[in-house]
Amino acid sequence: MGEFRIDSHPVFGMAPEKRVAFYFNGQRLEGIDGEPLGVSLMAHGIRIMRYDRITGEPRGIFCGIGHCYECRVTVGTTRDVRSCLTPTREGIRVFTQDGWGQRINDSSSHPGQDSEPDEPGIP
Ligand code: FES
Repeated sequence: MGEFRIDSHPVFGMAPEKRVAFYFNGQRLEGIDGEPLGVSLMAHGIRIMRYDRITGEPRGIFCGIGHCYECRVTVGTTRDVRSCLTPTREGIRVFTQDGWGQRINDSSSHPGQDSEPDEPGIP
């Protein structure tokens, strides 16, 4: 479920049980239903959410409260989604964002390699 997740904490107790599958750049991962996407990604050691459109430098979680916009990812076909505010849901498709919002590792640009299921209602 993510080697960096704290499943048992002496003060906060056990992590919630409702686990969901989601996709990051086509890779199936697990997260906890409703936790921020950025948290689900960090639990798997994924710290790069996008690459800056001018410098090309990697960006990720910075403020964690929706102010800095550094954590933007592409969800489905919607770019500039703040991963620190967007809840992880079953089947959601998340992509590293490059520059002005192009998806990186977009499996649809590689015919025959799209192993993700179609989810109605998810762009
Ligand atoms: S980490 Fe600052 S807006 Fe998401």
